[in-house]
Amino acid sequence: MITEVSEKELMLQREYIAKVKEINSKLSEIPLAHVHSFGCQQNVSDGEKIKGMLALMGYGFTRETENADLILFNTCAVRENAEDRVFGNVGALKKLKENNRNLIIAVGGCMVQQEHIAAKMRKSFPQVDIIFGTHVMHNLPQMIYEKLADRKRTLSIPECDGVIAEGLPVIRESKVKASVPIMYGCNNFCTYCIVPFVRGRERSRKPEDVFAEVEGLVKDNYKEILLLGQNVNSYGKEYGVSFSELLRRLDSIEGDFKISFMTSHPKDCTEELIDTIADSRHISYHLHLPVQSGSDRILKEMNRHYNRERYLKLVEYAKKRIPDVALTTDIIVGFPGETYEDFKETVELMKTVQYDSAYTFIYSRREGTKAAAMPDPVTDEEKGVWFRELLEVQNAIGEKAYERFIGKTVRVLCEGIGRTADGLMTGHSRHGVIVDFNGTMDMIGQYVNVKITKSCPWAVVGELVGDTD
Ligand code: 5AD
Ligand code: SF4
Repeated sequence: MITEVSEKELMLQREYIAKVKEINSKLSEIPLAHVHSFGCQQNVSDGEKIKGMLALMGYGFTRETENADLILFNTCAVRENAEDRVFGNVGALKKLKENNRNLIIAVGGCMVQQEHIAAKMRKSFPQVDIIFGTHVMHNLPQMIYEKLADRKRTLSIPECDGVIAEGLPVIRESKVKASVPIMYGCNNFCTYCIVPFVRGRERSRKPEDVFAEVEGLVKDNYKEILLLGQNVNSYGKEYGVSFSELLRRLDSIEGDFKISFMTSHPKDCTEELIDTIADSRHISYHLHLPVQSGSDRILKEMNRHYNRERYLKLVEYAKKRIPDVALTTDIIVGFPGETYEDFKETVELMKTVQYDSAYTFIYSRREGTKAAAMPDPVTDEEKGVWFRELLEVQNAIGEKAYERFIGKTVRVLCEGIGRTADGLMTGHSRHGVIVDFNGTMDMIGQYVNVKITKSCPWAVVGELVGDTD
């Protein structure tokens, strides 16, 4: 069952926050925490809440591990290489722990939510003091207090459908861009994916909670609001408020800001959503629509619930309705049983869509998923060859993709110093495209109009002008 963490439980954690703060205030120097989030934006967002709680407990922050009093890794399980990186990083902390017995090491998030990983972490990495799963992040103050008070190790990985904890403190990584989770978990069980197993069932935040948070952020002068969810298109089933409806409500907020979102599942992406973007004042003209494969046979094996034709229809509609729409995607190469012919269909789809960019991954076997039990005869070497072929195709598309903006005038939020040439400032357009232009430092934080004169594979360059198209 999905439950909202009760006020009573949150109150209890606030008491632990005060107790840890009391302990830390007696130290001669402010203790420092090093927090690192691996993986997706949702993890980064969780990391911001972890930092919020740690700050209230009296911790300062450090980017180094060497001078930290508390090291926390917020882990990702989506592919094996992400997990290997965590094991490597945690292993490297052994020396630090030997030199400083008071160092607290905590590992949390998706990776350790898997039973076999938690067991390995506990057995083979005795330097780790706290291992916590995805459903108990809000209990971190208690876990840290118990470690400080009686030096015991904590392992907290409850199995449950998931919780929602409202009102946690947050320290945001940026003063301009803010992530706002609108839902958690996933019910789709794509056969390759571990997320539904480690993040629990799909659950949405109340529309009024999301609205209040976004309104507050706009008041605080945030310029980009990134709405997060594994499948934002199925937002709000509990409340009878669709994702399009939520977007329209958020779009009604007055102010100069942009709304973007990730990730949109093609099976639930509707023409209504595309119309909502096209007719909006604030919503980014960018659609991240993970296709995963261009082969109908493989899409079926992946349990994606759409086919190539339906996907391409959506893309066509988005291109028709949203001016110069920016399309990006995720693709998996080498899913079990994929043949070169299947792979070629992905390449062809890529050429048809003409993505601005694509996140491409070699299939990684995840224990416990359906695909993990499927025969997988293609060798890693062969998958590597296909993968490089796909990259080359996308690089060639990406080289030219931004040419469509040349001669057009776009609105840009000036964010800082540019990278394409000396003396240029930079920002992002409504499409999420990097725009470098002849601005000045005093423009940082302001919107300006830029006429595009040149395109590169990863940015466009232009000159300041008076009006937008
Ligand atoms: N192997 C490779 N890539 C994966 N992804 C998810 N699970 C796997 C896996 N087992 C990719 C998908 C998804 C993105 C976030 O990660 O493309 O959209
Ligand atoms: Fe994984 Fe599919 Fe859910 Fe995305 S929609 S998190 S790929 S199961």
